[in-house]
Amino acid sequence: MTQTETNYDVKDLALAPKGRDRIAWAAIEMPVLRLVRERFEREKPLEGLRLGCCLHITTETANLLLTLKAGGALVTACASNPLSTQDDVAAALVEFGIPTYAIKGEDNTTYYRHLDAVLDSRPNQTMDDGCDLVSRLHQDRPHQIVDVQGGTEETTTGVIRLKAMEKDGALKFPIVAVNEADTKHMFDNRYGTGQSTLDGLLRATNVLLAGKVFVVCGYGWCGKGLASRARGLGAHVVVTEVDPIRALEAVMDGFQVTTLEEIAPKADIVITVTGNLNVVDRQIRKLKDGAIIGNSGHFNDEINIGFLDELAESRRIVRDFVEEFKLFDGRKLYLLADGRLLNLSAAEGHPAAVMDMSFANQALSAEWVAKQHSTLEPKVYVVPRDIDEEIARLKLTAMGIPIDVLTEEQKVYLASWQSGT
Ligand code: ADE
Repeated sequence: MTQTETNYDVKDLALAPKGRDRIAWAAIEMPVLRLVRERFEREKPLEGLRLGCCLHITTETANLLLTLKAGGALVTACASNPLSTQDDVAAALVEFGIPTYAIKGEDNTTYYRHLDAVLDSRPNQTMDDGCDLVSRLHQDRPHQIVDVQGGTEETTTGVIRLKAMEKDGALKFPIVAVNEADTKHMFDNRYGTGQSTLDGLLRATNVLLAGKVFVVCGYGWCGKGLASRARGLGAHVVVTEVDPIRALEAVMDGFQVTTLEEIAPKADIVITVTGNLNVVDRQIRKLKDGAIIGNSGHFNDEINIGFLDELAESRRIVRDFVEEFKLFDGRKLYLLADGRLLNLSAAEGHPAAVMDMSFANQALSAEWVAKQHSTLEPKVYVVPRDIDEEIARLKLTAMGIPIDVLTEEQKVYLASWQSGT
């Protein structure tokens, strides 16, 4: 596809030089993706493939998209969230020849128009973060599915939606669940979300965490990372969970575990990372004056903002990404980033060093789908283990960290069962 005047929609092309510099800065911390890109440049494994990408438009994503382009793909990109776009990056991507449709703060109509612009490119592969692209393709453009060999999905929420589609027999092409790779969720979800959520919270509010009652709703990989990082800054961290095993894990990791109802009157800060609906709901009635509420899960439905609004006499923005709700009873509660992904709205998302592994998984999974699609079924696939392990090996090498290898004697020992000695 050649670049025309109209095959993009970004805030301001004049921001491109700043975006280029920031993309290059992120690249320094993405050595694994760099190796993939160098091989893709030589081998062109995605030659001629139309790749429709719905991802957070960040410096790290730009490095992924440039890798896919280096592999020969014709990439078209849109944002996977209305608030997560970095406008300078979107502008730079257009200059790099990647049709990009993303503007930070776009309304819902524009958000879906941008998804449609990507679908208009008639993708042969999808690359999604949250499953909006795949869901829209299945619902509104079933006739285009014949063009699609498969796709990849980045995030927990997207994988949950895809598994529901698979269960209902609705999924019509194979998708690799990148989130399920160990080199994705063990690092991106845990250390990435842990750090970037606090980054968003601190940039938005500049509150001191030491001594605060900090409630983490959900103790999956993201919750684990957030709880441990908040504790590191001196907060008194309380975890809420619905899963008994995860709740027990949080207890044994040394956190107070209780219900949100119970802890609400004492909470200074409540952050949701569950992937579920209305996790902060009627408990809002019990929150104390000055409590801060935010979300780092994919969708803006973890906090019941409608209910919060019903309780409010007035609302106003008091700082960037901080909205004050003055309740009829006089209490003031503070909602961050409209309940959208706090880490990508008020900060820059996860640091490049973890996105390096997530996006190496994306690029290598796209290559795998391109090679294997004729043998695949319309199912959710995990990233092949050899890809996952190779990414870990390359990351360790880039970090200059050697590890031991099994001796022949140990291999025989591990493969034997007859004798314990
Ligand atoms: N998801 C979380 N952090 C991200 C980042 N920096 N870039 C793209 N997607 C992300």
